[in-house]
Formats: sequence, C-alpha cells, structure tokens
Amino acid sequence: MERLQKYLSECGVASRRKCEEIIFNKKVKVNGKIVSELGYKVNSTDHVTVEDIEVKKKEKEYYILYKPEKVICSVKDDKNRTTVIDFINTSEKIFPVGRLDYDTSGLLLLTNDGELSNMLTHPSHKIEKKYLAKIDGIISPKDIYMLENGIMLDGVKTKKSKAKIQKIDKKNNKSFVELTITEGRNHQVKNMFGTLGYKVLKLKRTNYDFLTLKNLSIGQSRKLTIKEVKKLYNNAKEKSL
Ligand code: URA
Repeated sequence: MERLQKYLSECGVASRRKCEEIIFNKKVKVNGKIVSELGYKVNSTDHVTVEDIEVKKKEKEYYILYKPEKVICSVKDDKNRTTVIDFINTSEKIFPVGRLDYDTSGLLLLTNDGELSNMLTHPSHKIEKKYLAKIDGIISPKDIYMLENGIMLDGVKTKKSKAKIQKIDKKNNKSFVELTITEGRNHQVKNMFGTLGYKVLKLKRTNYDFLTLKNLSIGQSRKLTIKEVKKLYNNAKEKSL
C-alpha cells in the first residue's frame, strides 16, 4: 500500500507535488471512483486513472554493461555520440548509476530504479568499486601506502582504499595497480594517481560491490537477476549503517 500521490509520481505522471494538485482537482479515479483525498492508499491491484486514462507502474529494469572506451556515460549526447544507453535494448527510460569517464571501460550498472541508484551512489553507502589502472612509471611502496591511507583531493582526503600492485613492467616503465575505493568522486582514481605524479594511461572498472564482468565481453550487457538486485539493496542498506 502506498500514498496515491507517490504512486502517481512513480508511474511517471508528474512530480509528487504536481500529482497532489491533480488529485486535489478531482482528476484521479481509483477503481472507478474519484479520489481527491491526499494520502489515500492504493496497492498494485487497484485500477487507477488520471483523466480516465489508466496509469501503471513501470517495470523496474536492471542491467550490467561492459562499457567500452570512447562511449559517453549519459542518457543523451548533444553531439550525437554513442552513449551507454545505445548498448541496451529496452524501451524503458534507464540511466547509468554513477559515471565512468569517456575513456574508462568496465562495469557499469544501468536501471530505471531511482531509489536503488540513489542508495548506491550516496556517499554514506560504502559500496566497493574496484579498478585496474595502467599507469606511467614504477609505483613505489610508499605511494601504495599513500593511496590506501588517503590522498588530498580538492582539500578533502579520500577515504581509506585498498591498493595492490598487479604487475610491474620495468622495460616499458609502467605499473598495473588494482585500486578499490568506496567513494565516487569526480575522476577520483585518475586524480589520486595524478596527485602522486602518475598519469593513468588506461582505466577499467572490474568490480562493483559483488558484481564482476564474468562472461561479458566489451560492449555486452545482461539483466541482473532478482537475487542480485536484492543483494545490492541489502548491501547498500547494510553499508550505510
Ligand atoms: N575514477 C576515474 O578517474 N575515472 C572513472 O571513470 C572512474 C573512477
């Protein structure tokens, strides 16, 4: 059971405030009867209309995409470049959960579930995101320590993270470092390495909480299972405690 104005706004009728007006103006019927009472409770079996047109809740959809590089992480692009939405076959208005840079590849969640998206991206929800960075130079143990214990970015120290050297390529003067962070500040990984004097040459997100890129190739996507969605909800709640 939920309040009529919330139900209408979740059906995409209008904002909650506007829906209150619509109810007040006697444009809403529940099971054939006009309801002008704010806070009237409805459930999924009720037949709800606005100006005699039936409104229904949108199905929630959840996808995981292996984002390629050179793809815009937004719903639309004013220069008509490929966006992450172009990789998903749906008529629902889905959007990316958080952002990956144009030149970053890897695991991206997309959904039309605003509640879950807000929970996962809210700074108080410490969801782990793991990245593999190829950087210019040979990383020192001191800098691994610095990455793990916090780097000053715009006057605010990053939260504790996990950093692990994956490979050192002495011949070409490159390092591969796995960095797991719980925040999602703008260009955070690049800026953390950048502050220490390393340029990130390639960046890929390999994990998002318990989700991995297993069985996906670049540009491929799949729907999340109900079990995975429930787990994301639970983890987001748990990690905010
Ligand atoms: N950090 C970055 O710098 N870029 C991304 O795309 C994601 C995290």
